[in-house]
Amino acid sequence: MLETITANRSEKAFDREKIHAGNIGLNVDHAAVQIEVERLLASMSLQQKIHEIRGWQAAPIDGLYYAGGDEALKIPAYKMVDGPRGARTGMATAFPVAIARGATFNVELERRVGLAAGLEVAAKNGNVILAPTINLLRHPGWGRAQETYSEDTFHMGAMGVSFVSGAQNYVLTSPKHFALNNIEMTRFEMSANVDDRSLHEVYLPHFKRCVVEGAAASVMSAYNKINGIYCGEHPVLLDDILREDWGFKGFVESDWFLGTRSTAAAINAGMDIEMPVGYRFDDEKITEAIAAGELTEETITRNAGRALYQKIAFDLANTVVPDASVVECSQHIELAREVAEKSFVLLKNKAVLPLSTSQRIAVVGDLADVPNLGDRGSSMVTSSEVTTPLAGLRAFGDEVAINYYTSDADLGDIGESDVAVVVVGLTYKEEGEFIPTQQQESEGSDLARGGDRDDLRLPESQEQLILDVASKAKKTIVLLEGGSAIEVSSWVNEVDALMMIWYPGREGGHAVARVLFGMVSPSGKLPVSFPRSISQLVDWDITALDITHDLYHGYRYLDRKEEQPEFPFGFGLSYTEFTLEGLQVERAEDRFFLNVSVKNSGNTAGAAVPQLYVSYLNSSVERPVKELKGFGWVELEPGEIADLEIEMSDQELCYYDPHHGWVLEACTYDFRVGQVSDNLPLESTWSFDGKDWLPE
Ligand code: BGC
Repeated sequence: MLETITANRSEKAFDREKIHAGNIGLNVDHAAVQIEVERLLASMSLQQKIHEIRGWQAAPIDGLYYAGGDEALKIPAYKMVDGPRGARTGMATAFPVAIARGATFNVELERRVGLAAGLEVAAKNGNVILAPTINLLRHPGWGRAQETYSEDTFHMGAMGVSFVSGAQNYVLTSPKHFALNNIEMTRFEMSANVDDRSLHEVYLPHFKRCVVEGAAASVMSAYNKINGIYCGEHPVLLDDILREDWGFKGFVESDWFLGTRSTAAAINAGMDIEMPVGYRFDDEKITEAIAAGELTEETITRNAGRALYQKIAFDLANTVVPDASVVECSQHIELAREVAEKSFVLLKNKAVLPLSTSQRIAVVGDLADVPNLGDRGSSMVTSSEVTTPLAGLRAFGDEVAINYYTSDADLGDIGESDVAVVVVGLTYKEEGEFIPTQQQESEGSDLARGGDRDDLRLPESQEQLILDVASKAKKTIVLLEGGSAIEVSSWVNEVDALMMIWYPGREGGHAVARVLFGMVSPSGKLPVSFPRSISQLVDWDITALDITHDLYHGYRYLDRKEEQPEFPFGFGLSYTEFTLEGLQVERAEDRFFLNVSVKNSGNTAGAAVPQLYVSYLNSSVERPVKELKGFGWVELEPGEIADLEIEMSDQELCYYDPHHGWVLEACTYDFRVGQVSDNLPLESTWSFDGKDWLPE
């Protein structure tokens, strides 16, 4: 008899072909576009060129911010709309916030979110989505943490570029805020002070990946300063790095209102479009600057050319607006649910989850019954329907018996239920983009603050609620809502299970039910370290106007200080178990291919997230203890095995030398693979002598 040898299914951690399929920006005939840009510019007056480099008016028109465009010249306008969790105008699919999507560690899923959000923006007649937000979570107290994916640059780049490529099937993207915008309360004035090495190694690689690999069509500059110079008029940032080093061909637009601080300095530095309106770029100011010799007509022409470039590259003059029925269509709603399910991070489970539908369940806490989609800043999305955790659990099936207790209800009989599910967390009042007027309006006279958090604990009343429930209920499960790390040390030992559900989007409640009842095994991993206490992290002062940025924050900082957080970066439990084995490393040209087999060694289907970290054993420069350099997402039936291939180029191993640029140094590199950053059992060590690579 012939023996059948079946090879394991094999998957790529990041399948470039799949991720980048259909990205219009990657299929541009640049020579032809340049010819057309020059033809147009030759026919334009100075006035017409100036019109191309600014927005139309402060308020959106039918939800869209317009910039440039000239009917007589057949030049279409840009029509921009936020943002990071879906289309901000009218009703749209509210996806889980970006930090939740970061927790999926699933790049193909993020590409699909990009596709869906881009399609909805296009169907609303927009042609630029003001997303993704890819500012590093230097500190989890950042108010806009929920809008971004991660504390780690590699992870951020992989997620960000996947969103970009998905969305650019339909519209232009605008990764933001370029750069080092990671505090909210002082965002308009703060100077992020950073040395060249940290800038290039930590704060820029994810922007570079979106621009170089994803051909992001535009970039939004940040409000803050870098080393004392506003980002909106920073020649090194906008010109030397973005254009010269990275070959960016699109346009830079300012962040709204305060993103442009000057006329000549901004235009000269490479701020191409002032948004939302030409306040600094108005006719008079520009004419005066030209007359004063501060600005030349050639520079206006250059910037107008950049503003025109993507209109031609993306053929915006011939865009067909998709039918409005794609907005909140069933596929997008299902996707929102799938993403939520895959984003939940199970942080603790003392044999209480999954639940069975025959158990009597007490659901506790006001937040269980409140749509909680995230902040009410520029990334706010309104959906026609939102399923809360309580509604989702109730809708799961008629057999489910639920008693609901509001936060101030008498818990006297809660012990009669088999298990209590407490829903606690943060809302737009405690964290988010800080736009006081908008937030006050949405809440009547009640001041809803948002902004940064200077304390990572839950509001006291919620901590008390958890402790009360835990002291009375047979078993206590806590579901945490929020956009970033929350300190849980004062109560986590008292509860049986804890799951981070972030701001889970319009379908969050259905996702909660499906995960709690075991239809889906949790597979989310933390994209931000959860400290035991804020004192374990870098200094954080939400009134600071000068902040030093260096190589260390998040897990890099904790590693260096030998601090053990409550839950490390990359951590997340599952209902099943996975074993990783047989790490094989091959080298080809300028890169490594690491192969690992992943086995579902438990009894339920689930998804594993193998993670690759690199350490530098005898480096001549100071380096972090370890850095994430690859990760994959592998779904497996019980007993199933798949091979995962992680590709890592030499560029990932370089450090940045301020005088010589990227350096691949002769030293020993330790590649370690595991399922969480603090436990990496598989290892392969390679040495580079300046010429050849040898395994140890
Ligand atoms: C935010 C941007 C946003 C813009 C337009 C600004 O306040 O910082 O992220 O895209 O508003 O809404």
